Amino acid sequence: MKPTLVDKPLLDTVLGKKQRRPPVWIMRQAGRYLPEYREIRSKTKGFLDLCYSPKLACEVSLQPLKRFDLDAAILFSDILVLPDALGQKVRFEEGEGPVLDKLSTDQIERFEANEVVERLEPVLETLERVRGELAADKTLIGFCGAPWTVATYMIGGKGSPDQAAARLFALHEPIAFKRLMDVLIKASIFYLVAQFKAGADVVQIFESWALNLDEISFYNYVIEPNRKIVEGVRARIPEAPVIGFPRGAAGNLRRYVEITGVDVIGLDYATPLGFVKTSLDRKVGVQGNLDPLRLVAGGRQMHQRIEEIIEALSDRAHIFNLGHGIVPQTPLGHVAELVARVKGN
Ligand code: CP3
Repeated sequence: MKPTLVDKPLLDTVLGKKQRRPPVWIMRQAGRYLPEYREIRSKTKGFLDLCYSPKLACEVSLQPLKRFDLDAAILFSDILVLPDALGQKVRFEEGEGPVLDKLSTDQIERFEANEVVERLEPVLETLERVRGELAADKTLIGFCGAPWTVATYMIGGKGSPDQAAARLFALHEPIAFKRLMDVLIKASIFYLVAQFKAGADVVQIFESWALNLDEISFYNYVIEPNRKIVEGVRARIPEAPVIGFPRGAAGNLRRYVEITGVDVIGLDYATPLGFVKTSLDRKVGVQGNLDPLRLVAGGRQMHQRIEEIIEALSDRAHIFNLGHGIVPQTPLGHVAELVARVKGN
């Protein structure tokens, strides 16, 4: 592939080059707060059908960039396409979120990590299409769910506030749990490598359920698997740029940064800016971390907090983002204000 001559501010930031003002994207930027997303979504049968329709998924990936001056597009898909590709059926129920078929230890034995890339061909085609349509200065972000987060849905069969089913399964059935985690690590490596080959500039690993784990479990379920994925991807794509987002890591955050080797650490909104300054190595970039509800409420408090975040993190490479996904009731005007404010317009 010919090297591009145009700078991509967001990719450059991941690679450690500080910008005058931080580049910006928004977690879950393609989604239900956009009327044009709801319009397309209302015409597709299930949510996963949309994820597996490259033409529509490409259009949805680009929708937020048509409205707002964001620095990146993120692939439109979901972290739960991975269990679906492994053969554990996933469906999304209105108002209930994801529901997965019951998982047995026999089924865990039979999972084949090397089959996922073939089954996720439509998702890779979405990336190729977005790549083809994206302006040269915009970064394309691929992603996967981290093994623990994906396993919590696979074991529990749905989302839960405390992930108790998965935490107990790991303790009661350590052999089956290890086999499941190993499959997910391997599958995630194949899948992320394929995403880079399909055109992703950088990938984010979503560890949305890094909270609720003691330090031993955090090390075993979060740090080691995330480290193995970064290492496995870089064995095939040297220096592959990676953003890690271990939501709720709290006191384990520093160890996650030091051991996994991610280029950028995604900060959830509960992470104090002072802690970042005193405890995280300035060589690692940061992403975040506005509370999504500050964006819903808007006004002075939002502008003030945006400036505080930018000011506090100006001593290192920083990508502006929310500290978790944007919520459906977010007013579009507030998003426009946020982007303009971050850019200093
Ligand atoms: O960021 C983007 O715009 C790209 C697409 C994307 C989606 N999900 C689309 C989606 C990404 C990156 C995700 C990641 C994801 N999916 C995570 C990690 C991020 C996080 O929020 O913590 C998780 C935990 C999931 C699993 C998931 N998907 C749940 C629990 C739900 C239901 C609840 C909810 O938030 O909607 C989904 C559904 C989902 N994924 C929707 C979208 C646009 C809404 C479904 C619909 O339109 O019917």
